[in-house]
Amino acid sequence: MTDQETWNRVDEYLGGKLLGSDDVLDAALAASNAAGLPAIAVSPLQGRLLELIGRSVNARSALEVGTLGGYSTICLGRAVGPGGRVVSLEYEPRHAEIARSSIAAAGLSDVVEVRVGRALELLPELQAAGLPPFDLVFIDADKQSNADYLEWAIQLAHPGTVIIVDNVVRAGSVADPDDPRPDARGNRRMFDLLEGDERLDATAIQTVGSKGYDGLLFAVVN
Ligand code: SAH
Ligand code: DHB
Ligand code: MG
Repeated sequence: MTDQETWNRVDEYLGGKLLGSDDVLDAALAASNAAGLPAIAVSPLQGRLLELIGRSVNARSALEVGTLGGYSTICLGRAVGPGGRVVSLEYEPRHAEIARSSIAAAGLSDVVEVRVGRALELLPELQAAGLPPFDLVFIDADKQSNADYLEWAIQLAHPGTVIIVDNVVRAGSVADPDDPRPDARGNRRMFDLLEGDERLDATAIQTVGSKGYDGLLFAVVN
């Protein structure tokens, strides 16, 4: 019973009760799918969690690594609200183009900036630009670089900044030291960095749902 079909059905149920209809996010997902982008955006319930975490800490700025079609980016834009600022980093120009169009349709063009390039090249540029630190960071790009992204997130943070990392469990592979896949190895390297790192306090939660069996890291910078 506790299989993917059940997880889908429960996500449907919870979404129906808690999320209502959302034409903007539905359209963003449809545009992303129509353009052939991979169907790996956060789920609607997860997107809402991002928004609510941002609102909980009164985030006025957010940094995202991995835009895809802008689904989670729109959630972050809602979190910071009008007058807030979201910078989202995306390697694929086509993804960024679709995302910008959906962000515009969401009325968030003044809030969200999508920057195109390798995140590990763009992050030093952000630091060099001397922007104020971000209140919220969402890391959701290539998992093999998660440790590096987490390190950069700390550099671009202030005490109290919330850092969330998607896909840190990957169907349990994170706990297998012999799993050679880049996601598993990247996540293990990230947890090695976190081990005993007093710059932040962190927890991680295993999740099931429409995106299968995975997990989220939640950290607060000290
Ligand atoms: N956050 C999105 C999903 C992101 S999927 C959402 O939930 O809606 C991961 C994205 O990271 C893809 O669009 C991929 O092109 C991008 N990506 C992969 N490697 C990257 C890199 N080195 N730098 C920046 N973006 C990268
Ligand atoms: C996958 C899921 C994600 O959330 C992501 O960011 C990248 C890949 C996946 O299921 O392949
Ligand atoms: Mg993800």
